[in-house]
Amino acid sequence: MDKLLEVNELTKQYSQGNVIARVILTAADHVSFYIKPAEIFTLAGESGCGKTTTAKIVLGFEEATSGTIVHNGKPQTRKEKVWITEGVQAIFQDPFSTFNPLRTVDSYFHETVQNFKLARTKQEAIDHIDKKLRLVGLSYQEFAGKYPNEFSGGQLQRISIARALVTDPKLIIADEPVSMVDASLRMSIVNLFKKLRDELGVSILYITHDLATAYYVSDRIAIMFRGNIIEMGSVEQVLMNPRHPYSKLLRDSIPQADPKLRWTSTVTLSELEQEEYLRRGCKFAGRCPEVMDICKGVVPADLSVDGVLVKCHKYSDTQKG
Ligand SMILES: Nc1ncnc2c1ncn2[C@@H]1O[C@H](COP(=O)(O)OP(=O)(O)O)[C@@H](O)[C@H]1O
Ligand SMILES: [Mg+2]
Repeated sequence: MDKLLEVNELTKQYSQGNVIARVILTAADHVSFYIKPAEIFTLAGESGCGKTTTAKIVLGFEEATSGTIVHNGKPQTRKEKVWITEGVQAIFQDPFSTFNPLRTVDSYFHETVQNFKLARTKQEAIDHIDKKLRLVGLSYQEFAGKYPNEFSGGQLQRISIARALVTDPKLIIADEPVSMVDASLRMSIVNLFKKLRDELGVSILYITHDLATAYYVSDRIAIMFRGNIIEMGSVEQVLMNPRHPYSKLLRDSIPQADPKLRWTSTVTLSELEQEEYLRRGCKFAGRCPEVMDICKGVVPADLSVDGVLVKCHKYSDTQKG
């Protein structure tokens, strides 16, 4: 078994609007990807493209409209959600909302140790927790008895990573884990992901709108646009030599120096969001610099171009020939 997680044709539809003007929006549209053991796989794309929807379904927080999730060769069923197993853990964007401000952070760790019966005595529990904290550069002593607001955002995000590690998971799902962390600390967090992959063999589903960190940590990457994976392959191929016009636009819109101008602020036009989701052909046709007539009416197929998946009409001849 060389696939730890398989997501097959995952589709999630939401109904938006009111009784008079209701629209069905397909936030994840036949999304398929897999993650191998000890691999960092990234789902990247601007805000509102369906990344969190995909993560929530993989974690079992929401139910798919259709499609299947296979974890360790076993299909996820309604009863047996992936997220409650010790093998899969999650990290979210805002560490301050992960922890109740009125509870000490160590209580969360002890609770997990108890729930999963990971220690027989209090001392064993402390040793186990301390080991995990040391992996993220902290220690039990520094954190015991403290409340969330006694830590900085960066420290608390490290703590939530350590907490995810308590059960020795094989897969961590991290949804925008660095977007609320100071730019100066971002690399130290993503470096931790590399360390977990290399030293513990952990796989990571890294979800981000930040291509700079994505390039730095990912083995493979999928670029999403309005519910679809529009390009997927090795990070070198997709980010250094993007084929889809949208991937090219994203790549070119990362201003190197000023983090404030990262692509979400330069590309996102949120009024467009629903309109794009509801497009009949290629969802990117309205903004694509290389648009052709066919793009406006026909959804492009998933083509394989030099081993990279590309959902674009531009390449349909390549594949035939
Ligand atoms: N519970 C919901 N009800 C209706 N629409 C939703 C719901 N959750 C997400 N959406 C819509 O689905 C789309 C994708 O959202 P999301 O998965 O959160 O994107 P991302 O994480 O990439 O920013 C957005 O247009 C969003 O408005
Ligand atoms: Mg999101």
